[in-house]
Amino acid sequence: MSTGETTISEGSFDEKPVQEEREQIEIDLLLEGIHRFYGYDFRNYAMPSLRRRILHHVDTEHMNSISELQHKVLHERAAFKKLVQSLSIPVTEMFRDPSLFKMFREKVVPLLRTYPYIRIWHAGCSTGEEVYSMAILLHEEGLYEKSRIYATDMNERSLQQAKEGVYGIEKMKLYTKNYMEAGGTRAFSEYYTARYNSVMLHPYLRKNIIFAEHNLATDRSFNEFNVIFCRNVMIYFNDELRRHVHGLFHESLSRLGVLVLGSKESIHFSGYSEDYEPMDRVEKIYRKLK
Ligand SMILES: C[S@@+](CC[C@H](N)C(=O)[O-])C[C@H]1O[C@@H](n2cnc3c(N)ncnc32)[C@H](O)[C@@H]1O
Repeated sequence: MSTGETTISEGSFDEKPVQEEREQIEIDLLLEGIHRFYGYDFRNYAMPSLRRRILHHVDTEHMNSISELQHKVLHERAAFKKLVQSLSIPVTEMFRDPSLFKMFREKVVPLLRTYPYIRIWHAGCSTGEEVYSMAILLHEEGLYEKSRIYATDMNERSLQQAKEGVYGIEKMKLYTKNYMEAGGTRAFSEYYTARYNSVMLHPYLRKNIIFAEHNLATDRSFNEFNVIFCRNVMIYFNDELRRHVHGLFHESLSRLGVLVLGSKESIHFSGYSEDYEPMDRVEKIYRKLK
């Protein structure tokens, strides 16, 4: 009896690591397959959150295992696209972290005024709210006409929504509050037309924005920029991919170019911290020195 009990408890004790090891092998194979077949590289995403998302996707798609998901994804492009949706986390807001936009107005805009032409890259722009916030800010500062904003993401569906510039009306209360806290000088409602349950941002805000698919893990630098925003994207990457992306940004920023990261992100341990100086440590605004 006692021997039996010991065997059962040892068995259940060992089962968890074995199960996790099996899952990890299945995840590695899934990511390898996706990379080889579709060219999307998720292999250097931070594993704990990636694992959670994959398991959640298996669950919501009513599949029995990651191997079943792998089979489906490799045989059906639609299943692959659905998985990309689940792995991309398109959470965003207009004037998200309002104090950052306020500081940007105070500290970066005076610098931008001195340039004949301004190029800004929003990497990982999701559904566009951050980009339109920038367009409004530049418009109010009289800089929009001489600006080009490049808004990129790996998620095709999010980009489509970004291009349309149509958002739920229920979000306007929060966005108006953010806009005011970010130093907005007008009535926020000047920037959209409400229709039933949604609002459409005015098309003039889109005039100088170029939306394009770009994958930070696999695509190269495509221009030189005065400002790069990449907020709440690299938190999902491991150290190796973060270093790679910082390399891409370093290569893409002009001298004295400005890099803006998310509130939980930092230039430290990027491999490039010596090449930047903080313009605002709290808001994660850095200027490239060399
Ligand atoms: C949480 S949203 C951040 C949106 C916005 N920057 C903000 O802070 O509100 C993260 C975005 O990063 C994008 N993303 C994730 N991995 C990417 C990659 N390798 N290349 C380009 N975009 C990526 C996702 O598709 C998603 O839209």
